[in-house]
Amino acid sequence: MNYSVNIITTNNRCIEIPFRRYEYPNLMELIVDTYYEDIGECLGRGLCGTCHVKLIEGVLRDTKDQTEKETLSKVTDLDSTSRLACQIMLDEKINNLTFKIITDHNLNT
Ligand code: FES
Repeated sequence: MNYSVNIITTNNRCIEIPFRRYEYPNLMELIVDTYYEDIGECLGRGLCGTCHVKLIEGVLRDTKDQTEKETLSKVTDLDSTSRLACQIMLDEKINNLTFKIITDHNLNT
């Protein structure tokens, strides 16, 4: 089964990225591999905040772990739709959702 996710890049381009379930370890790696964005500094450990995204359209039924919550509490421009793309798995839960890349390069890892 093929899925897709919509990503609004930092240049405000909307791209639709098709993916297969668990094709990459997480959404951050899918974005980096299919459309270069300067995110993923901590390689998906949930610590750097560079993969900060916001859910723009759709509902994601997923929970944040403690590390993600702590890192998000330090990023700029946080709101209730904020997530770390490296903590989002590639599965049916994100099919057809739209995320905007916010990023944050001010946290120390
Ligand atoms: S890659 Fe560093 S927090 Fe996601």
